[in-house]
Amino acid sequence: MSNKTASKKLLVTGGAGFIGSNFIHLTLAEEADWEVVCLDNLTYAGNLANLQECLDHPRFRFVKGDIGDPPKVQEILKGGIKVVVNFAAESHVDRSILGCQEFIRTNVQGTQVLLDGARESQVELFLQISTDEVYGSLGPEGKFTEQTPLAPNSPYSASKTAADLLVRAYHHTYQMPVIITRCSNNYGPYQFPEKLIPLFVTNLLADKKVPVYGDGLNVRDWIHVIDHCRAVWTVIEKGQAGQVYNIGGNNERTNLEITKMLLEILGKDESMLEYVTDRPGHDRRYAIDASKIETELGWRPQMDFMEGLRQTVQWYINNQSWWQAIKTGAYLKYYEQQYGIKF
Ligand code: NAD
Ligand code: TYD
Repeated sequence: MSNKTASKKLLVTGGAGFIGSNFIHLTLAEEADWEVVCLDNLTYAGNLANLQECLDHPRFRFVKGDIGDPPKVQEILKGGIKVVVNFAAESHVDRSILGCQEFIRTNVQGTQVLLDGARESQVELFLQISTDEVYGSLGPEGKFTEQTPLAPNSPYSASKTAADLLVRAYHHTYQMPVIITRCSNNYGPYQFPEKLIPLFVTNLLADKKVPVYGDGLNVRDWIHVIDHCRAVWTVIEKGQAGQVYNIGGNNERTNLEITKMLLEILGKDESMLEYVTDRPGHDRRYAIDASKIETELGWRPQMDFMEGLRQTVQWYINNQSWWQAIKTGAYLKYYEQQYGIKF
């Protein structure tokens, strides 16, 4: 379909962050009948460099603004938005442990403002991007299903759970067409170098040690970001209003395993590994049962983990200026000069 016939409008919040920017790239490349409006207030984690090639795209518009700003949200939604995909969030557990005010403001109040705006303008679908962390922590056995009780342990996951409950309540009370997805740990290009994989890759590329929390035996399920983004599109196209869908990579790894794989890919030895004090309240294990989305909607993750990890490392090798600008903080200044956007 040509750009002129593009008829459906999607609002992507938090689209200048890691997963949102990958989702926008995928959407502009593969979903020709959708226009995308991105609303992002460019926190430390939002980076317009992630959307560099999209900024002049005829089916794309970037709006700098806060999801917690009712007039801004209403103005955008009244411009014919059919679907809202809410990626915007404070997303880092360690930061939430240091202080969670921003987490409550964006993840909870921001979601409420978006929900109210979406309700008023009668959007066809409000998709809340949530996380497996709302289910809490597992022992050595079992997996999270959509029926697992919510038991968040960190201020971050508590704020995401509060948002999920609001989204659920808007469906129950107002029959709003909402869906919640809960995905496991993502990896891939454009991930801010404070999360495990990009932090370790960029440290190793700079010949710095990597800080492994505790005994390194905490387990996460890892999924390539593009597999997650395709799952989100599957849910937009085939998901049922009022439902929750877990999304996972069928790929459980200890942090130590991940660290050793990265050391191997980058040709470094274990002297680069440094055990440090554990994260307070550190969840031991996350594992996702994604059989609902697989059997009901026909989605499955495609990326082989070692291959995805190699591609991701290669992306960080090829894009050193991207992460070096972040590590020095220069990216904020550059975009202020380039686009006149104040931070
Ligand atoms: P990120 O931190 O990389 O990006 C968050 C984006 O939201 C940034 O661009 C930031 O500027 C924007 N933002 C923050 N507050 C805002 C506000 N008030 N108004 C508008 N924009 C705002 O996060 P991510 O890793 O891309 O995660 C995206 C979503 O996916 C989050 O909701 C997160 O909870 C969820 N999630 C992430 C993972 C993961 O492994 N990264 C896994 C499961 C779910
Ligand atoms: P992270 O990427 O912060 O994601 P989450 O806490 O949301 O799962 O951390 C992934 C795992 O890696 C988690 O068990 C904490 C651990 N970790 C380290 O061991 N060292 C680090 O420097 C970081 C950032 C994380």
